[in-house]
Amino acid sequence: MIYVTRREVFSAAHRLHNDNLSAEENWNLFGKCNNPNGHGHNYVLEVVVAGEIDCITGYVIDLKILKEIIRKNVIAKVDHKNLNYDVDFLSGKNPTAENIALGIWQQLEGKIPSGTLFSVKLYETENNYVEYRGE
Ligand code: NI
Repeated sequence: MIYVTRREVFSAAHRLHNDNLSAEENWNLFGKCNNPNGHGHNYVLEVVVAGEIDCITGYVIDLKILKEIIRKNVIAKVDHKNLNYDVDFLSGKNPTAENIALGIWQQLEGKIPSGTLFSVKLYETENNYVEYRGE
């Protein structure tokens, strides 16, 4: 099995908030991500496809095609957007890195033409990232 990774970046605003908690509880839980008018992150997305090497192309997946799939189904929907309001696949969700990664997985699942979607890794900051492998 060979693992192929495409990296993309996007910038977006979000506000983490739970209506069932008090203002103080929200602040203690989410910190600056609870800022009333939201705030921004420069997200880094890594999409990994696993598969066998095709005997004709020598590829698991053509990275030009993977790039286009990610840009059309994910980046075009989230880049420079407000994740609380503008993104159909995050509607009604608290836009934590966990929920965004899960949503991105669901956007890409079934659209990968060769190999299998193996993981979606989303960095919210340089030091904090989440990874979803579909299980
Ligand atoms: Ni934040």
